[in-house]
Amino acid sequence: MNTAIVDLRSDTVTKPSAAMRRAMYEAEVGDDVYREDPTLNRLQERAAEVFAREAGLFVASGTMGNQAALKVHGKSGQEVICEARAHIYNFEMGSVAAFAGLVPRTIWAEDGILTWELIAPFVRGRGDHRARTALIELENTSNIAGGSVYPPEVFDDIADHVHAAGLPVHLDGEDFQCQRGGGTAGDRIDQESGLGDVLSVERAGRARGLDAGGEQGIH
Ligand SMILES: Cc1ncc(COP(=O)(O)O)c(C=O)c1O
Repeated sequence: MNTAIVDLRSDTVTKPSAAMRRAMYEAEVGDDVYREDPTLNRLQERAAEVFAREAGLFVASGTMGNQAALKVHGKSGQEVICEARAHIYNFEMGSVAAFAGLVPRTIWAEDGILTWELIAPFVRGRGDHRARTALIELENTSNIAGGSVYPPEVFDDIADHVHAAGLPVHLDGEDFQCQRGGGTAGDRIDQESGLGDVLSVERAGRARGLDAGGEQGIH
């Protein structure tokens, strides 16, 4: 009988395998400011290729990727619409306000899965009194809602309407495999969100780090 224990408390409790540790130890390195780190360059290029983006940018954590995206997409004093259990709202030390300068407008949704019908009444344009909506943030999979997954048609519908309103979608793409497809919210997510972020390349051992795909100008 196999008595090995699989610890599923969190994706952060997994550890790199011996092969992963060796790959890290032996990795070619260089100065990333001069774009001379071959390993980092390959990682960024690969991420851009996988997610059909102009460029990829390595950041050290998921939180960092989210905050960079929020800062890029919003201006101080504007709003970000997100689900009530969103990581950016609940688990990022208020950085959504402190760093990105945004007011979170939260919406409670069944299983953490927003729909355009839920979002639409809260989208606000320019006005004299209220904060304007800067972007819509979606989380796939939805961590605190139990790992629920956006069905592709729900995501497409949101993306179509949000883009028609002239706004960006930021995807907190917690699960790399999920963003890639595999019967879940698929490629459209990667291509449509203004700055889709994707957690670690070696998810199985959760090597730290994240690659945010976007446009060159964003860097
Ligand atoms: C949905 C989601 N977004 C962001 C993060 C933050 O990632 P990190 O711990 O690398 O900052 C997590 C972490 O588990 C997460 O589940």
